[in-house]
Amino acid sequence: MNINKNFLAFVITLSLGFQVHSVPRPDAVEPAWDENDNPTYVIKYGKGDRIDPSTNKPLNMIQILCDGKAVDQVSEEKLDACRDDASLVEEQYGWMDFSTYKGWRAYHAECHVCHGPDAMGSTYAPSLMVSLQQGLSFDDFYAVIMNGRGEAEGAVAGNVMPAFGANTNVAPHVEDMYRYVKARADGKIRRGVRLPKLPKFKEAE
Ligand code: HEC
Repeated sequence: MNINKNFLAFVITLSLGFQVHSVPRPDAVEPAWDENDNPTYVIKYGKGDRIDPSTNKPLNMIQILCDGKAVDQVSEEKLDACRDDASLVEEQYGWMDFSTYKGWRAYHAECHVCHGPDAMGSTYAPSLMVSLQQGLSFDDFYAVIMNGRGEAEGAVAGNVMPAFGANTNVAPHVEDMYRYVKARADGKIRRGVRLPKLPKFKEAE
């Protein structure tokens, strides 16, 4: 049963891979940080991109369509339908640097259950966008993720931020996730529909 599931996941990855390659991809660019420690963004103009006429810049760096429309332009009912039915979702990949993209994926694999989709926060855990806007540094971000935070470390009573230091789906991707959350916090990336879960990263043995 397990083997079948893994095989299915493998086939899905393959077909997703082909989809991704069939749309224009950004040139490989080394992720970089500017002098203020903010992630730099690779902006590529592409088919389907929407340009803000006042700035002449793209509104979204990653465009996710729900039933043919940009997700920020569809009704909540339609969004729900797209959350339930992945075939209605189209991802036009190509306007986000790969590191930010990986952070986006990692965030939605491991963190959104508590911190909310799109880094928006939930009743249980804070919005990480807001944490960064209020000045949470990369080092503190890193430390909380690695070590977790319970009541003993000053968390709100009853709240627990688990430690992810030993989690290979998280630990190697903290910088990517920071870039993703920072891009959200800076208003560079809009909300997107949750994508179907991808198979988890596996350490080579
Ligand atoms: C089981 C739920 C849960 C999961 C999963 C979770 N967190 Fe948290 N996280 C929390 C809670 C609750 C807090 C707030 C703790 C407190 O009260 O200080 C928190 C706090 C944080 C903080 C500190 C925010 C601040 O303003 O001080 C960061 C950063 C953070 N989490 C990142 C992450 C990342 C990245 C992931 C995914 C790898 C993740 N968390 C997954 C529950 C969770």
